[in-house]
Amino acid sequence: MSRYVGAIDQGTTSTRFIVFDRGGAIVAVAQREHEQIYPRPGHVEHDANEIWRNTRTVMREALEKAGLQPSDLVSIGITNQRETTLIWDRATGRPLHNALVWQDTRVDGLVAGFARDGGKDRFRAVTGLPLASYFSGLKLAWLLDRVPGARAGAEAGDVLFGTMDTWLVWNLTGGPEGGLHVTDATNASRTQLMALDSLDWDAGMISAFAIPRAMLPRIVSSSAVYGETVRPFPGVPIAGILGDQQAALFGQACFAPGEAKNTYGTGCFVLMNTGAAPVPSTRGLVTTLAYRLGDAAPVYALEGSIAITGALVQWLRDNLGLIRDSAEIEPLARTVEDNGDVYFVPAFSGLYAPHWRESARGIIAGLTRYANKGHIARAALEATAYQTREVIEAMETDSGIPITELRADGGMVGNDLLMQFQASLLAVPVLRPKVTETTALGAAYAAGLATGYWAGTGDLVANWGVDHRWHPRLDEAERNRLYAAWGKAVTRSFDWTD
Ligand code: G3P
Repeated sequence: MSRYVGAIDQGTTSTRFIVFDRGGAIVAVAQREHEQIYPRPGHVEHDANEIWRNTRTVMREALEKAGLQPSDLVSIGITNQRETTLIWDRATGRPLHNALVWQDTRVDGLVAGFARDGGKDRFRAVTGLPLASYFSGLKLAWLLDRVPGARAGAEAGDVLFGTMDTWLVWNLTGGPEGGLHVTDATNASRTQLMALDSLDWDAGMISAFAIPRAMLPRIVSSSAVYGETVRPFPGVPIAGILGDQQAALFGQACFAPGEAKNTYGTGCFVLMNTGAAPVPSTRGLVTTLAYRLGDAAPVYALEGSIAITGALVQWLRDNLGLIRDSAEIEPLARTVEDNGDVYFVPAFSGLYAPHWRESARGIIAGLTRYANKGHIARAALEATAYQTREVIEAMETDSGIPITELRADGGMVGNDLLMQFQASLLAVPVLRPKVTETTALGAAYAAGLATGYWAGTGDLVANWGVDHRWHPRLDEAERNRLYAAWGKAVTRSFDWTD
């Protein structure tokens, strides 16, 4: 009888459960969106109970759809929005506060305070990360300081910290009744509390941010049997955890140094496998863990994190009502020939890589009486491609490896106009693989490798195939003219909240 591997993909806007077969094809999928809570400008929260409820629902629903039993699953992998920070009560399982989402900028003040003494890069050598509101460590520090009883509870071991992987594994394995309190090394590498070389919590970082050691989960490998599910159904091994961008790198079979992917989702995240040694960045990228399989040596990556790309399309839909459905953005952008000299810098959460400017805010530049909604739509799509070029240029400089092709995945790869423009702007082909659900696939791969469903990464490379390839079409002068104008617009977004 055939058996399968399941993956929980707990993303920024929704939670999905996808069942894969040995060829990496999708057998069943179920999905639930959760509420985005915006209490104030710059604050973004999620209700962790809603996420756990949605997780149980989609797990049951996907199996039902395919007529499968839990016993048809060899194992389950988990992939998740990274950095989103939660604290909860070990005895009751109740969160002490909504989760602070990675895009949340409320710790700006803490970032500035720490940067005053030694600069934004003072923790890079140990953690690979600049000081930024993005990462979990300072979000956790904020919760400990602001939520009544949190610090005392954490010191007593009664209050636990976790990113979404940790929260889900703890609940899946029994919650207050013996739930496992773990995180994998890729997620831990986004907290700014882990040392990149030892893959353990760093005493210096924990003390700098005043984090009680007792609340931190155990750091485990990305592919190993951690335990078995208790809920929503018992007895399925949980055998893989990867942060979602690392999972996409894995699902794209980027196992060789120099191989890179870009995931076009809420934000864009370009990751390049850099092999056995962490490569420091001098150009505003972050050094991060790519994956660790079992007890094997860890593999590292360089990452260019861009906060807002697909989210800009959602914003045009939800906040401006310019479109009713995200898919309408492409036909609207096609009503015009070009961007009409309009540039949209979506610095809604400040700017991440390569600029790292908390105080930047969104702007639309170059407006004239000529500009219409088609130009705004086009500028919004082009913003994704320009931001991607910025981080790819930085990546080539940092790694010394020219990118000769870019593997693309995520929700926006269905947008032909964007993908074509991306290839033209980068002057390299952009490739869409046959299975574009690479994030969930990567988590399934990690779980399937740990349980012998796949024998090794060679099986996964064999599963990867190209569905579509976009070739560059713009001449060099035009490409550079557009990119230079974008660069000018970016500088106009700087220092808005200073
Ligand atoms: O670092 C944030 C990233 O992991 C979020 O990804 O796809 O959930 O928006 P996504």
